[in-house]
Amino acid sequence: MSKITVIGAGNVGATCADVMISRELADEVVLLDIKEGIAEGKAMDIMQTAALREFNTRICGVTNDYTATANSDLVVITSGIPRKPGMTREDLIGTNANIVKSVTDNILQYSPEAIIVVISNPMDTMTHLVLKACKLQANRVIGMGGALDSSRFKYYLSKALNVPASEINGFVIGGHGDTTMIPLIRFATYNGIPVSELLSKEAQDKVVADTMVGGATLTKLLGTSAWYAPGAACASLVESVMRDQKRVLPCSVALNGEYGQKDIAIGVPVVLGKSGVEKIVEYKLDGTEQAAFAKSAEAVRGMNNVLSDMKVI
Ligand code: LAC
Repeated sequence: MSKITVIGAGNVGATCADVMISRELADEVVLLDIKEGIAEGKAMDIMQTAALREFNTRICGVTNDYTATANSDLVVITSGIPRKPGMTREDLIGTNANIVKSVTDNILQYSPEAIIVVISNPMDTMTHLVLKACKLQANRVIGMGGALDSSRFKYYLSKALNVPASEINGFVIGGHGDTTMIPLIRFATYNGIPVSELLSKEAQDKVVADTMVGGATLTKLLGTSAWYAPGAACASLVESVMRDQKRVLPCSVALNGEYGQKDIAIGVPVVLGKSGVEKIVEYKLDGTEQAAFAKSAEAVRGMNNVLSDMKVI
């Protein structure tokens, strides 16, 4: 019996659960929220699509009852407040750090072996918090940001090239922040052809700039942060773990010397399989990319220091 728990039945949590269920990534999914009735309602609504979409995964919703989450193989944390227009992801740390810490303690009480996927923002810092506060092994904690940012990168590239996004390969590393993420345009290809051969320098710069503020653009349009792409991006990395696919996806993971960094969780390409993070893939970055990565890490580290000031780690 395989089991996934999603903490937080807001837009991102519910969408992520919906995508995971339609792909039957586990026998059972538990959706938990602190707001009375919301997880139960969304779970029932999703379950009522089973006859239409022909899936066999069961989903149940609970109000803050962690006993229902017991023995989960994987837990996704979406808890906390989303950003409003004009806010950065970093503005959320004061509220979200304490929430993520207590949620993780509760999860581990009932699923001590679970792999934990963190979506709550500021995501890299929340991933660091889960790793540090709960003293978890590095392979078990995966921050979801790079998979989403890479999907947005492919979207903007597909628009610039006027080709399907699925024909594009590309990834975004670094922090999951408007100024910290690094869309690696030099490595992006369309069916094996470097996009740098297909797009002008100006067009490439625009794709990079649009990707970096991809989340902020949606927050402005929606009045809150996005959910379809975040939910689907999370489900794709969960799929690689649950099905032991060994796909390479950029995720925020603890580094121990890789990319010249230590004691930090930040986005890098990793192999995801049944043990979680099975390998960190080290791409050969050029001088400019290396400098951008070091600068991004410095910004994430600055945010992590706020956790010590808040005394949550
Ligand atoms: C975004 C949030 C989920 O980028 O961080 O949309």
